[in-house]
Amino acid sequence: MFPANRRGFVMGLVAAASTSALHAQATLAGQPRTLPPLPAASGTALASDRRYWAAVQSLYTVTPKTVNLENGYWGLMADPVRAEYQAKTDMVNRENSYYARAQFGKDSAQTRQLLASAVGAAPEEIAFTRGATEALQLLIGGYNKLKAGDTVLFADLDYDSMQYAMNWLKERRGVNVVKFAIPEPATREAVLQTYQQVLANNPRAKLLLLTHVSHRTGLVMPVADIAAMAKARGVDVVLDAAHSWGQVDFKIAQLGVDFIGFNLHKWIGAPLGLGFLYIAQGRLADIDRAMADEDWPSDDIRSRVHSGTYNFAALLTLPKALALHAEIGPQAKAQRLRYLRDYWVSRARTLKGVDILTPDEPGMVAGITSLRLAGHSTPEQSKALVAQLRDRYGILTVQRGGVAKGPCLRITPALYTTEADLDRFTSALSAITAA
Ligand SMILES: Cc1ncc(COP(=O)(O)O)c(C=O)c1O
Repeated sequence: MFPANRRGFVMGLVAAASTSALHAQATLAGQPRTLPPLPAASGTALASDRRYWAAVQSLYTVTPKTVNLENGYWGLMADPVRAEYQAKTDMVNRENSYYARAQFGKDSAQTRQLLASAVGAAPEEIAFTRGATEALQLLIGGYNKLKAGDTVLFADLDYDSMQYAMNWLKERRGVNVVKFAIPEPATREAVLQTYQQVLANNPRAKLLLLTHVSHRTGLVMPVADIAAMAKARGVDVVLDAAHSWGQVDFKIAQLGVDFIGFNLHKWIGAPLGLGFLYIAQGRLADIDRAMADEDWPSDDIRSRVHSGTYNFAALLTLPKALALHAEIGPQAKAQRLRYLRDYWVSRARTLKGVDILTPDEPGMVAGITSLRLAGHSTPEQSKALVAQLRDRYGILTVQRGGVAKGPCLRITPALYTTEADLDRFTSALSAITAA
């Protein structure tokens, strides 16, 4: 059960320990729940700095019911962000239209500026959405350069609902839809060769869906290289960055992609219901207005999204989430998540019959990684493994299908995950594979 009393984040860790039995062991008694300065170290020394990460962990109130290694669904808010969201919800509820009609436009514009600066875009290049799904559906569905007989491309690892949107283009635009498989083992070289080959085999290709971080296996795509290949052949890329920004540290200009859909409620830790889309300057005309929106001029990117009434409080909380993201350190966060992934993967690789589906190569993986047990080829087997880990060992994971070579088990640590949590997981895996 969640604790009934909600305490301020400045309280000591001794008090915080009672909120999470599992994480209490990892905290440093007496340390205040504010962050010390980011350690000067880098690499593994920073990623494993016990004092710093215990302070970060102390900002999160998590259920003691399980060791949650299924943080890929969405990212729970840190306590300071949650407190802000509660305060903003109270304010919006109290002030109602008095606030929304007179002040929200200004607050929203300021928040858009903050976000644009954090992700490295001009404010005019981004528009808020309710999440990555909405952003990507608007980009894929609104992309108006396709003609009947053109080809659109996507891979087995792309997200299901984005695959549906690409398939729908057949009906909507009369295009041919080509789906291909990402190789296993997925080395950088093999991935690049696959995209090179698919582009060469499909000279009428005009649009490619690409996923930055796969929600199925955790594979990180070499986006800039693939986008450059596509561009050289006149193929536009729609990038699914639902899982990347916040987990991986980058600015938009590094990607070389003109159309991107983002989430803010996964790795940025903003309230649920927030994402945004990016359309590069000069490309707005290639995406239709959302259902012929007339609220905004057609040269304003906000005419490409029409969500209706906002969750005002969620958007108003974004500055706090971005501030915490900056304070923890985007690079430090990425390194910590990669360290946690390497921590369990290096142990799991020593176990017989455990196949790790992401390579260790730098740039090809972040915090998420999936595994498959030898002989597990059906969703039922993977689901049984999820149930065993949950019911016998108290560890939450999730089964992911849709991978050409068969279903797998996805492991997603978060910033509040400890090495002890991962030891518990690898011990369970060891017992299961030895049985
Ligand atoms: C790769 C990928 N794309 C898109 C989405 C959709 O995100 P949302 O449901 O938050 O809109 C997800 C969600 O998990 C995802 O993992």
